Amino acid sequence: RPLVDPVPPVPALYVSFGFSIFALLATIYLVPALGPTFVKANLKGRDLLKVYNTPIPESMGLVCASVYILLLILFIPFAFSPTSLNGSQAQYTVREGMVINAFPHYQLSVYLSSILSLLIATMLGFLDDIFDIRWRHKIPIPIIASIPLLMVYYADNGNTHIVVPIPFRPFFGSLLNLGPLYYLYMSLLSTFSTNSINILAGINGSEVSQAVVIALSVVLNDLLYLPWPTGFRVPLHLLGSRAEVEVGGVWSAGMAYGSTELVERHLFSLYFMLPLVGVCLGFLYHNWYPSRAFPGDTLCYVTGMAFAVVGIQAHFSKTLLLFFLPQIFNFILSCPQLFGLVPCPRHRVPRFDPDTHFLYPSKTQFLKRTSQLTTVVLRVLEGLGCTELTTLPDGTILEATNLTLFNVLLLRLGPMREKRLTQALIVVQVAGSVVAFVVRYGLAYLVYDG
Ligand code: UD1
Ligand code: MG
Repeated sequence: RPLVDPVPPVPALYVSFGFSIFALLATIYLVPALGPTFVKANLKGRDLLKVYNTPIPESMGLVCASVYILLLILFIPFAFSPTSLNGSQAQYTVREGMVINAFPHYQLSVYLSSILSLLIATMLGFLDDIFDIRWRHKIPIPIIASIPLLMVYYADNGNTHIVVPIPFRPFFGSLLNLGPLYYLYMSLLSTFSTNSINILAGINGSEVSQAVVIALSVVLNDLLYLPWPTGFRVPLHLLGSRAEVEVGGVWSAGMAYGSTELVERHLFSLYFMLPLVGVCLGFLYHNWYPSRAFPGDTLCYVTGMAFAVVGIQAHFSKTLLLFFLPQIFNFILSCPQLFGLVPCPRHRVPRFDPDTHFLYPSKTQFLKRTSQLTTVVLRVLEGLGCTELTTLPDGTILEATNLTLFNVLLLRLGPMREKRLTQALIVVQVAGSVVAFVVRYGLAYLVYDG
């Protein structure tokens, strides 16, 4: 890897930012323009939490995915042009008297394999919208879709070591090689990120606002790793003492080694996240209460895969998972319904009262006596305030509120209107990201010394 100037490849980053604004405008324009075409193709859904029956165009995430992926492809010449490769990194360099091709083929394969995974996610999401694929069929597909990413990770001497938290060091030592398990973990990450957004869905604006907050959190995290001029570093220091050390460390590493691999990786992540923020914000404009377009599974899958892609390729999958705290909570809470302990209706969205327009926790009914395991699980969740049970005097459970984050919010904060619930979700998601930054840069030193 040839050494290059410490100056970041700013031109490409500016171009990426420009592309993101174009993505925003294109989505704002295209979604309503193509809506009737989608309805005509029978891609439509009824808004479950409204009094009206107007068909709303569904799967409009396909428009977002198309704009997003086409812009990522158009961006390739900019990301790999000589000027954005820092000028000094000419395509051919002379090393030990030989002319060698210094074009960054590895980075290009990172980029192309990422686009491939995004395309598979789009295809899967769209097929799911059309055919309502069964769970057992849709779980393995993102795992297979992540193979190109993992191969590229492997090609770069992929690190499969984890730093062991201090309390566990007497047992495992300070560095633990997970080997193939680490690849398994990364492939499951793509399944998790794609499906976890999809099951925290059903109220106007919920899917895409989760994506916006997570993408902005990733962008903020990436910005911490760019070699900022000294003046810009001051506000970053406010993020916490550890951030200061991190940024300072990266900065000095940048000075010593030119654009470090770390800077390159986070630039790559920015190239994928900025246009995603653009399409998602554009779509949110139409998907906000009252929705004029639905994202469908396509949007959930594409955004989820984009997060998995940057987490894996830019080597920050654990930080990324921290940005998914509300989704992790919703997934763990949903497990009894996803794995058949508790009946799972087709829609678990809150119950809508057409008279007051308020949302109430929705319920699932038990047609037969609950097994011992189910009873224990439900009683524990009830004790934790995550569900409310309707029981007979002898303790037989008749009903339980559906096990979703939305219902927990409604149980804890009381009934509210749909728009309020989406706003509550956004607050939870932002709070999750704040916790993530505190854990990553503020508390990590308690369990890690590096
Ligand atoms: C997932 C959830 C399901 C939830 C559904 C809502 C699990 C296991 N599955 O299923 O509980 O009800 O998402 O998206 O948790 N819709 C609205 N308002 C919105 C968005 C969607 O009413 O703001 C309705 C529309 O009727 C739309 C339908 O939800 O047609 C889309 O549902 P779909 O994405 O197919 O459901 P799943 O992802 O299978
Ligand atoms: Mg869905």
